[in-house]
Amino acid sequence: MSVGIPEIDEDHQKFIALINDLNRSISDRMTPDEIVKRLEIIIDDAARHFDQEEKLFFEWQYPDVSGHALIHSNILSSLQIMKKKFIPYGHDSGWVDAGVQIKKILIDHILKEDMKYADYYHNHRGSVPKNQFEAS
Ligand SMILES: [Fe+2]
Ligand SMILES: [Fe+2]
Repeated sequence: MSVGIPEIDEDHQKFIALINDLNRSISDRMTPDEIVKRLEIIIDDAARHFDQEEKLFFEWQYPDVSGHALIHSNILSSLQIMKKKFIPYGHDSGWVDAGVQIKKILIDHILKEDMKYADYYHNHRGSVPKNQFEAS
């Protein structure tokens, strides 16, 4: 699942660890407050990570900045909707499905969409000044 850009890979691994933590809190039947706290951490981390990617796209002159940014914003909306939808139900089945769905949405995004900019990055790295490709 590596995009071959160390800073981004680190972020993605952190992301997956947070999602696993959320799913563990759901399967351990922690209180809804604890589960929501973990979901909020994921939402904040996703927002920060998406901003970081979009900043890099401008530096790299990646052609599909707006398409990718729109997908980021849709993901954040879906996470907010899930949070609102499942909070009232406590431990009824909703959370288990939500946890699985959140993992799927974020992993699919990395595998399908982030891999597109990874290809661009690796194919065009030599054609713009090197410092524009430093992911810091
Ligand atoms: Fe990403
Ligand atoms: Fe992305």
